[in-house]
Amino acid sequence: MRILAVESSCDETAVAVVDDGRQVRASIVASQARLHEEYGGVVPEIASRAHVQRIIPTYRKALAEADINPESIDAVAVGNRPGLIGSLLVGVSFAKALAWSLAIPVIAVDHVHAHLYAGCLENHIPEMDALGLVVSGGHTATFHLQHITEPIRLGSTIDDAVGEAYDKAAMILGLGYPGGARLDALATRGDPSTHSFPISRLAPDSLDFSFSGLKTSLLYRVRGRPAPGGVFERDFRDLPEHERANLAASFQQAAVAAIILKLQRALAHMRSRGRTVRSLLVGGGVSANSLLRSRLHDLADAEGLDLRLPPQQYCVDNAAMIAGLAFHLYRAGQRDGMDLTATPTTAC
Ligand code: KG4
Ligand code: ZN
Repeated sequence: MRILAVESSCDETAVAVVDDGRQVRASIVASQARLHEEYGGVVPEIASRAHVQRIIPTYRKALAEADINPESIDAVAVGNRPGLIGSLLVGVSFAKALAWSLAIPVIAVDHVHAHLYAGCLENHIPEMDALGLVVSGGHTATFHLQHITEPIRLGSTIDDAVGEAYDKAAMILGLGYPGGARLDALATRGDPSTHSFPISRLAPDSLDFSFSGLKTSLLYRVRGRPAPGGVFERDFRDLPEHERANLAASFQQAAVAAIILKLQRALAHMRSRGRTVRSLLVGGGVSANSLLRSRLHDLADAEGLDLRLPPQQYCVDNAAMIAGLAFHLYRAGQRDGMDLTATPTTAC
């Protein structure tokens, strides 16, 4: 079964063609990062206008790369939640129009849920039960899956998403936006033992995450304490390169330690309820992080888990993960109609 999927929830316009939930024939991502860079974050109105301009060229490019005719598509999938409402509407409207013109079904997919599927592309579905982790710019959450189509949320961030904390930390260190990958690169040149940053634990049995304290700690370490009126003593320009690298490495160590700690708690939680956890599904932009990837491999080895960690191009937002998950939703009986709408919040 061939599914063409559209993803437009934030600032990437993406179209992919995937056969049988597995074989990626094309995955095109038109990034808007340059349009938002000068604002230090995504500007929703700019994002939705850029989606309108890019959606049809991106669709054509995907057809060309997959080397297929639209008539060979069996269903159209679309990420319809969660995300920026104006951005989502562009993808949903396009997907519905395409499905209607080809007289084929449309399948709505949750973007956060699809991140969990990214590591299953070009592979078989791992054995369940699975523990899932989504770490992105907008979401940080763990899930229990007994079936790939049914994630149950275990814990989520009570403040910043980890990718958001990375982006803010990168701004504090003068690395620009979006800075997660740049901070990761800088951290590899630093010594993580030079600064001790807080590893968020919350209550002893909490499965939730918190990253705002870590970000604020870095802010004070870089800029000093603000005087009345909010004027800081210094900024990143006053720090030598090796000191910024040490700060980045120490920040990264604390952020990753907090994620691994919560995964260990989530595993213990599932096992205490009699579940046998066989797999670990990870997705979202921050799963591209070098230290996190290495710690996840260590955890999976120690716990005997089948780790599904996507390659770089499927960590960040893409439509292949939407198409892949849609195949399984379709097989489970899901069909959506022309009354499908965009929803800013997630259902899972
Ligand atoms: O999944 P994604 O493309 O978009 C959302 O759904 O949010 O994730 C983007 C996030 C950004 O915050 C970006 O800074 C972060 O992923 N990111 C990274 C790395 N690469 C991307 N964070 C840490 N280390 C990286 N290597
Ligand atoms: Zn995402």
